[in-house]
Amino acid sequence: MIRQAASVALSLLFASGGAVAADTPPGKVVFDHSCAVCHAPGLGHPGTQRLAELRGPDRAVLEERTDLDPDYIRHVVRHGLVEMPPWRPSELDDAALTQLVQYLARGKSPSSAQIGH
Ligand code: HEC
Repeated sequence: MIRQAASVALSLLFASGGAVAADTPPGKVVFDHSCAVCHAPGLGHPGTQRLAELRGPDRAVLEERTDLDPDYIRHVVRHGLVEMPPWRPSELDDAALTQLVQYLARGKSPSSAQIGH
């Protein structure tokens, strides 16, 4: 019994450890670096909090949205939106922005997530 539990725990450890390293999309890394400070789930994140007020709790967490258009995300990042600051290409280059847009707008047409605006 104890031995069985230990082996289950061990395989869970391996499963989760492997998944994190191998499956992290590049856009997720950009998101965690540049956006998560304001858009991570939960209280204390001004982006999440503001979007909960504006759009409702179901649409507060950017990483859980399925309705975000690639061009819209690109526009908001480059131009800012009310309290959200804009990013210049020197701060967030087009390659990183494209990865970010692909990550946040996954499920949307990939052709509209290409560089160019
Ligand atoms: C300093 C905090 C802050 C950071 C950092 C930030 N945002 Fe925001 N973001 C906000 C706020 C606040 C809003 C709500 C703006 C409003 O009042 O309409 C917002 C709104 C948005 C929206 C609009 C969503 C909608 O439903 O219309 C998108 C898209 C967005 N942010 C993407 C990003 C991305 C991508 C990044 C990282 C590059 C990022 N934000 C970084 C604060 C931030």
